[in-house]
Formats: sequence, structure tokens, C-alpha cells
Amino acid sequence: MKLAVVGATGAVGQTTLKILDERKFPVRELRAFASERSVGKSVTFKGEKIRVEKIGPEAFRGVDVAFFSAGSAQSREYALQAVKAGAVVVDKSSAFRMDPTVPLVVPEINGHRVKGHRGIVACPNCTTIVTVMPLKPLHDAGRLRRVIATSFQAVSGAGVNGVEELRSQTLAWARGEAITPLPRRCGCRSSPRTRSRSTPRPR
Ligand SMILES: NC(=O)c1ccc[n+]([C@@H]2O[C@H](COP(=O)([O-])OP(=O)(O)OC[C@H]3O[C@@H](n4cnc5c(N)ncnc54)[C@H](OP(=O)(O)O)[C@@H]3O)[C@@H](O)[C@H]2O)c1
Repeated sequence: MKLAVVGATGAVGQTTLKILDERKFPVRELRAFASERSVGKSVTFKGEKIRVEKIGPEAFRGVDVAFFSAGSAQSREYALQAVKAGAVVVDKSSAFRMDPTVPLVVPEINGHRVKGHRGIVACPNCTTIVTVMPLKPLHDAGRLRRVIATSFQAVSGAGVNGVEELRSQTLAWARGEAITPLPRRCGCRSSPRTRSRSTPRPR
């Protein structure tokens, strides 16, 4: 198969490459895309360096599957271009999650929904996926009517910049230096960020 990874230099893109390698996904050719900032850099796949490219008009020619993890704006801008070129897009961003024409899939739970795709398959966000995995068998065993959940987000949820921020703050903390957090301190501390979404109580 010919694959494209859009956002190949990012946290999700790098993990995608690692998993494709680990699972011995049948890759005949791989194209790696990122922003203009990364043109000239390379990513490693199966021990080989792959040149990072900027998305151009011919980017998705001949691509079978394109993994998108460059943010929702980029998915909105380029996913249909990839579909028109004949690729199936697997989108990690929030761009199409609420689109009723796009299947929102967690393979272990509703993988069968992939069959109904029209070119794009969306994934829920990382917190949702790990939440629904244990909930599904519980729901099958005895119908769940309400779930109260608290999530603890890793800084990696903010991408490579979040991970780098944690690394530099932790090193500064270990050296006894003042930490200048952007936007909050994450090194050796958790910071509260709350958001609630309530669903109607079942009658
Ligand atoms: N981190 C997570 O745990 C997680 C989990 C699930 C879903 N997601 C979603 O996945 C997406 C990426 O997240 P991330 O954490 O991987 O972010 P990230 O580490 O910041 O990576 C962003 C990637 O997108 C690329 N990019 C930015 N602008 C671009 C453009 N105009 N054209 C092409 N590529 C561009 C970046 O390239 P440069 O290196 O050149 O800047 C980089 O490769 C987001 O939509 C996020 O919500 C993230």
C-alpha cells in the first residue's frame, strides 16, 4: 500500500509511524507531510529516512490511505483533496467527528462502521477512546445509563511542544531554577483545567 502521514513530525504522526512499523503494516511507499517549517527535515520509518514534504497539488496521487494528524484546520483544508485523489483518509483531528456522514470509529468497538465510509473515517479523541474501551463490555453486560468521569490529561495531548515544555520545566526544576511556565507549570505538578459537559439524567 502507498501511505501518507500528514503531520508526520508531530506527536501523533510519530506514533503512527511507530505503530505501522511495529504491526508490519504492508507499506510499499510512504510519504511524510508536515508544515513548511519541516521541509528539509526527515522522519524515520523502518530504519529509513523519509524526506518531509509540504502538501502540494500532487501530494496524494496514488495514495491508498492517508493518516491526518496535523490539526483540524489542516484536515478541513486537505482531507477532501486526498479523497478526490482516491485515498481513504483516517483523521485524528476533531474536524469530522461530529459530521453524520463520517463514521466515528474505535476499531475494537464499532470497527464495522468503517464499511460505510465515503472517503473519510474519523477517530474520537484520546480520552474518549480509552474511556469507551472498558465501558463497552460493561454496557454489553448491563446497559449503562450514566457515566461520571474525570480525566487526567498528559501534556503529550498538547503535542510535541507540550512534551518539550515538560522536559525543559523538569530539567529546570531539577537544577533548582525558576520555572517559567507557558502557559502553566507542568513539570512535577498537575494543573487543574476543568470543563464539564452534562447529559440529561435518565428518567
Ligand atoms: N497528542 C495527542 O495525544 C493527540 C491524540 C489524539 C488526537 N490528536 C490530534 O492530532 C492532531 C495532531 O496532534 P499532535 O499532538 O500530533 O500535534 P503536534 O505534535 O503539534 O504535531 C502537529 C503536526 O502537524 C504538522 N502541521 C502543522 N501545520 C501544518 C500544515 N499547515 N500542513 C501540514 N502539516 C502541518 C506539524 O508539522 P511541523 O512539525 O512542521 O510543525 C506536525 O507534524 C491534532 O488535531 C490533535 O488534536 C492528538
